Amino acid sequence: MNQPFDKKPIVILGPMESESAWLIDQLGDRQEKAFGAYTFYEGLIDGYPVVICRCYIGVVNSAAATTLAIAQYDPLCVIIQGTSGAHDPDLHQGDIILGENLVELGSFYTLHRDEGQGSAIFDWTQPGAEINVNNNIERVNTLHSDNRILNAAESVSYTDGIVRRGTIGAADIWNRELDMIAHLSRTLGTDCEEMEGFGVAQVCAQLDVPCADIRVISNSEWYFQEEFNEKYGEQCQMFVLQVIRRLIAEQTLM
Ligand code: 5AD
Repeated sequence: MNQPFDKKPIVILGPMESESAWLIDQLGDRQEKAFGAYTFYEGLIDGYPVVICRCYIGVVNSAAATTLAIAQYDPLCVIIQGTSGAHDPDLHQGDIILGENLVELGSFYTLHRDEGQGSAIFDWTQPGAEINVNNNIERVNTLHSDNRILNAAESVSYTDGIVRRGTIGAADIWNRELDMIAHLSRTLGTDCEEMEGFGVAQVCAQLDVPCADIRVISNSEWYFQEEFNEKYGEQCQMFVLQVIRRLIAEQTLM
């Protein structure tokens, strides 16, 4: 362990530059530490240690960055944040989903079908990831953000959309088929999808660190005019900065 701080830092992950650079700029007394491809920006917000990492896209990258961050910093919590695509047609660009439930969308069992019978993706079952928590090894497809972090997020004022708790699905897939989006929403309860949340939550559950997933809606297949726009990545970071300030001011988790 190479802990540069006398307090447990808050770790923030953002997959893309447009989901991390603005927050990195907010750090006072900034230092950077690279582990291969993963760079951790260490600094202060309101005098409290915060570490920010652009973790890159996908479940594997976000899980690797989470593991490195926990091993290096013994953090107070890990918050993954960034953009997402709406599954719920009531959600629109700029709305924020606080990931009360984090669902795994990338593991499947298929039923046997004979040669020539094709594929029936809506019949596939989704067992979730194998997780060991307290020597209890099971397949789990739903994990949860820490309720104290979500409470802090709910107390932030935000005028660019609604903020509500919801279910965020994650896998290395960008779904654009409305029948698939509706199927996932119906079977797993997803409000939106992205590519990292469950991976971060899985590592955090197994290493016993509180985590949260906070996502802005940056695109919705339900509305042709709501195509992906990376400006929402910055909007999410601005919201998350207010969450960090609340956690620090109210000494949540400390
Ligand atoms: N589906 C999957 N990932 C999405 N992202 C934003 N919108 C979507 C979507 N509709 C996020 C992912 C990933 C990057 C490609 O953008 O989390 O980091």
